[in-house]
Amino acid sequence: MGRKIVIAGNWKMNKTRPDAEKLIKELVPYAEKATCETVICVPYTNLETAVEITKGTKIKVGAENCHFKSSGAFTGEISAEMLKEIGVEYVVIGHSERRQYFNETDLTVNRRTKAALKVGLKPIICVGELLAEREDGITEDVVELQTVAAYTGLTADDVKNTIIAYEPVWAIGTGKTATDEQAEEVCAFIRKIIANKYGSEIADGLTVQYGGSMNPKNAAGLLAKENIDGGLIGGASLKAEDFAVLLQAGGAGNAC
Ligand code: 13P
Repeated sequence: MGRKIVIAGNWKMNKTRPDAEKLIKELVPYAEKATCETVICVPYTNLETAVEITKGTKIKVGAENCHFKSSGAFTGEISAEMLKEIGVEYVVIGHSERRQYFNETDLTVNRRTKAALKVGLKPIICVGELLAEREDGITEDVVELQTVAAYTGLTADDVKNTIIAYEPVWAIGTGKTATDEQAEEVCAFIRKIIANKYGSEIADGLTVQYGGSMNPKNAAGLLAKENIDGGLIGGASLKAEDFAVLLQAGGAGNAC
């Protein structure tokens, strides 16, 4: 199959600089052994430290958001150019916490995705339904709308530089994971949406991650599924020993 398996930590608003330094140094040897791609998405204040410490290692650094404009009067925002300039390679776009607390919309997700791609950053685009939406039986409708919106105006070459993360909102930080089958079903559905738009070759090459309470206990089962090509991990990315287990599971899952 040859899809890239990517295990990405999303630290969210955690870790002061000394704590970040310690964790990254602990992660380096685990990442060396890993056969999947290892990414850590860290708060802006830790990005330079992370880039510095990971130079010459197998860990790639990502940010947790970027603005869609390259510069201007946007107090408190950081542009994709600024991230690229300091050596960041990935950026999380449209995380449900940004949709929920910071008025992120499908339109701004699309604009941020384009801004990231324009400067050569790889966006990790997050989609996923709320609990009420799953209970209403509209998971696929929600995920399709979010996915189609995020990829609007992207070329096939753009798609090759994206990752999409299926993160059911009800599973984030709740300890309630989607079952392997639930996660696989939606990840396969996302691949089908991409195949309809860009053809099966592009869709087959796209890394589709699962995120939502992925942890050392459940990772192997999720990652063994055919359409789950890695994880976007919150809580379990904050401890080196936990994240190490996920890296191992990533290597043992599908072919990297
Ligand atoms: P948890 O792994 O803490 O549930 O967070 C998942 C997530 O939101 C990753 O982006």
